[in-house]
Amino acid sequence: MTAGPTREALDPARFISNPSTGKMGYALAAEAVSRGADVTLISGPTYLVAPPGVRLVRVTTADEMFRAALNQAPGVDLVLKAAAVADYRPEDRAPGKIKKEVLRRRAQRQGGADRAVLLRLLPTPDILEELGRRKRPGQVLVGFAAETGDLASNALKKLKKKNLDLIVANRIGEEGEGFEADTNRALVLDRSGGRTELPLMSKESMAAAILDLAGPLLSVGSGQAFRQAAGRPGA
Ligand code: C5P
Repeated sequence: MTAGPTREALDPARFISNPSTGKMGYALAAEAVSRGADVTLISGPTYLVAPPGVRLVRVTTADEMFRAALNQAPGVDLVLKAAAVADYRPEDRAPGKIKKEVLRRRAQRQGGADRAVLLRLLPTPDILEELGRRKRPGQVLVGFAAETGDLASNALKKLKKKNLDLIVANRIGEEGEGFEADTNRALVLDRSGGRTELPLMSKESMAAAILDLAGPLLSVGSGQAFRQAAGRPGA
């Protein structure tokens, strides 16, 4: 399980990140533990407290999350990648806080009459895509997609490109869903063409609904805990 944002530092005082709080990933971790799973939660910076029973691995950057995820993945039956990973990081990380005068001089050197400073960004590794390449038989990979555009077609593209079994897509920028909200609404697609609309609900209920959909994809032994979740429809 991965959760939360990553931070990509420019210097010790500044970073590039996103508003992810980690609520969805932490809710998934708690729900999986309550169903008897052995859970490792790889978490970016968040103020949330790890659910009891979860093995917590704290990371800050996309590169650190990449290493932690690749390290854990060979031994797990189910990967849920709820983290909002930064796609780019600053090329250089200054050892000390970059002074305004330094930026002004840099802007002059770069010929920016408008005082604009150019910042070079390098791509971070796509963790989920790499996990998809390395997926072993029987392993189930669940990705997430936060979209502002066409939800279904973007989610389907990602499902295929990253070799996922399930993708949970939600709209960002709408009241009550996505980043920071306590509730979520999502469209879940699976690799065999299945499509489930999850209406607006708490992130805890959504975690249960997602595990209800992921559980049956697991092979018999490891899927048992998820299917046995007491009294839930589809469990
Ligand atoms: O392509 P996009 O970033 O929208 O895909 C979102 C999904 O991919 C999420 O499950 C996210 O955790 C994962 N991801 C990743 N590594 C990245 C970017 C996204 O694992 N560098």
